[in-house]
Amino acid sequence: MNGFIKFVSTSTLLLLISNSLVAGGLNPPALDSAQVESGIQLYQQFCQRCHGTEMRNSGASTFDLRKFPSDEYDRFVESVSEGYEDMPAHGDILNSGEIDALFAYMVTIQQAKQKGNTP
Ligand code: HEC
Repeated sequence: MNGFIKFVSTSTLLLLISNSLVAGGLNPPALDSAQVESGIQLYQQFCQRCHGTEMRNSGASTFDLRKFPSDEYDRFVESVSEGYEDMPAHGDILNSGEIDALFAYMVTIQQAKQKGNTP
């Protein structure tokens, strides 16, 4: 059951990505569905326990990633690599391609939210 829900929400996301690719990507990094797919996996493994399922959290105790400014790519890379306030550094665990994948996933979630496709 759980697996099914995950499957459905992943395919919804991939559909959204292909839509946004047609509408024109963004940079850096350009959205690519394989990259976002790996961002989802990495997010579930390393970030979800603090930032919430599909980035849904109140923002009261952790940063609400749905509100992170998507044009501040450098800040994202730096905060994730070196840590930020109460967030531990991930630079020893994640390489730059993996951090890019996480960024791409975050932007995808934000775009889905803007279109009213996620709660
Ligand atoms: C142990 C809990 C924890 C984990 C794991 C964690 N974070 Fe965070 N994260 C936080 C907290 C707490 C903050 C808010 C820090 C503050 O504003 O005081 C934060 C803030 C952030 C910010 C905003 C930084 C800024 O510049 O304002 C980003 C981006 C972020 N996290 C991304 C991630 C990503 C991506 C992962 C997975 C690789 C991750 N976090 C894993 C706890 C965590």
